[in-house]
Amino acid sequence: MSVLFVYGWTMYGMIHTAARSMVRDQLGEATWNIILARTGLSEEHFITAKHYSDETTLRVIGAIADTTGHAVPDLLRNFGKYWIKYATASAYRSIFTLSGNNLDTFLTNLNRMHMSVARMMPEARLPTFETLSSTPGETELLYRSDRDGLTGFVEGLLIGLMDYFGEAGTVEYRPVGGQHIFRLNREAARSAA
Ligand code: HEM
Repeated sequence: MSVLFVYGWTMYGMIHTAARSMVRDQLGEATWNIILARTGLSEEHFITAKHYSDETTLRVIGAIADTTGHAVPDLLRNFGKYWIKYATASAYRSIFTLSGNNLDTFLTNLNRMHMSVARMMPEARLPTFETLSSTPGETELLYRSDRDGLTGFVEGLLIGLMDYFGEAGTVEYRPVGGQHIFRLNREAARSAA
């Protein structure tokens, strides 16, 4: 498995509770119990407002991948999509909806939204997103993070966001000179949006 995250850093438990919720929803309680046993973790590692070493997060992701047979990048993409549904149905819904009611506004406010999360979760190391260019059919974003190995997660998040805002299209990832560029190919917003 490729190296994910950085040794010595921490990740808030809400990531673990979201991963648990994804497995329970998509694969059922019995599969979750198998995965939990493989991690060697217990319920105390699933407290939203506590933070845990990135190694713990890696154990959860690794155990899901091993049990389901999915490659880690595919799993992270699925998790990114799921996270949007999870966050918009959680206590963070209001933070999310306050950030915009269409994709362009939301992307403009994304860093500010994460900064307000960081005020409540001071140990968080949150990524930043910069819009490099935007035309009606295409948006290019630069993703910056202290962590490695999460580009699949970002891809899934962006697909999930497009879907949430009623847009059809695709997301392409391109590493350029060590930088992480994502291109959103945006077809016309679905009329139901
Ligand atoms: C209400 C919505 C959201 C909340 C409450 C939230 C909160 C968080 C939290 C607590 C972390 C863990 C940071 C840590 O513990 O060090 C995180 C990580 C992350 N978030 Fe968000 N987030 C939200 C939405 C989004 C959206 C919409 C995107 C992108 C489109 C995004 C991108 C990421 C990424 C990529 C990470 C992984 C960490 C990294 O790349 O370094 N988040 N977020």
